[in-house]
Amino acid sequence: MSALKIVIKGSTLLCSNGAKSLGIASKQAVWNKFILSGQTSARCLATNVDVDKKVKDVKESKIPKETKMPEPDHLEHFKPGRVDDMPEPDSLQHFKKPKESSSSAIITKTPPPGVITLPHPIWEEQQVHEVKITHTPPETIIDKMAYYNVQMLRKVFDIFSGFSFGYRNERKWLNRISFLETVAGVPGMVAAMLRHMKSLRRLQRDFGWIHTLLEEAENERMHLLTVLELKQPSMLFKLSVIASQGVFVTWFSFCYMLSPRFCHRFVGYLEEEAVKTYSKCLEDIENGSLQHWQTQRAPDVALRYWKLKEDATMKDVILAIRADEAHHRVVNHTLASMKPTQFNPYKPGQ
Ligand SMILES: [Fe+2]
Ligand SMILES: [Fe+2]
Repeated sequence: MSALKIVIKGSTLLCSNGAKSLGIASKQAVWNKFILSGQTSARCLATNVDVDKKVKDVKESKIPKETKMPEPDHLEHFKPGRVDDMPEPDSLQHFKKPKESSSSAIITKTPPPGVITLPHPIWEEQQVHEVKITHTPPETIIDKMAYYNVQMLRKVFDIFSGFSFGYRNERKWLNRISFLETVAGVPGMVAAMLRHMKSLRRLQRDFGWIHTLLEEAENERMHLLTVLELKQPSMLFKLSVIASQGVFVTWFSFCYMLSPRFCHRFVGYLEEEAVKTYSKCLEDIENGSLQHWQTQRAPDVALRYWKLKEDATMKDVILAIRADEAHHRVVNHTLASMKPTQFNPYKPGQ
């Protein structure tokens, strides 16, 4: 049976059994080796080595630190380059694979939409009913340009979506909402990307705007995914979306590079119109063509995303969407009034 040797060097405890090095070891590791190694355990336990005492002695410096200690066996062994019998990395503690439990964060099944999302406000019943139609008067020339641009687009879109004439039936509503949401999801993503790139390019911080912009973009996309549960888009609709996205992404990116203020003010006024549109939708749910939405069950994606109650209806969904739009309205008007180098006052999910 080989002899156990404990070497104390400085505050480090080295343990070997003569024939084979056990390496640099903590107190716990030494005991683990004693227990696991059949060859040494009998001798070690028989000699009643008091590791606790050894460690304590080192800490209290009872053993002079300057004591000349012999080179540990394992170093002597590998110094000449004899590496054939080096241990496999997998057998070493610090190379071991993580335990099963630590890999449970990996998603193996496809989750339904609305589960994995960025933080976003969850509205109380009272909050969704308190939303009001408001208007921030344009002050500067840039504000006025943004305002009149939105007014012009609104008029064109009212004609395009059939809202300027005829009866507003469910088909018109679903077409209008789903098309608008494909556009509404663009500004936040474009602005976030451009700020991200600027931060990388100039080696400067972003001042905390990116997360708010990304949350807005995702929120608009969730509006779209919710409405698509009620409507299957036609080929003409899909082509219109592709065309409008090509134009709007190009135009908005160009505008954002020139004037972030114009773009956030533009989105602020766009959101003012969105609140008007969803307020009108709620009127039609109360007294118009959408009265069945008072009882029609909300899509599952909406229940998950807004954490609505199990028996929520489409009316509850529209109330939540309108509250989101009112939130975008105030956020974008706030960002438009700030310098791009001022810190974003909105925390994630607020
Ligand atoms: Fe929206
Ligand atoms: Fe919005």
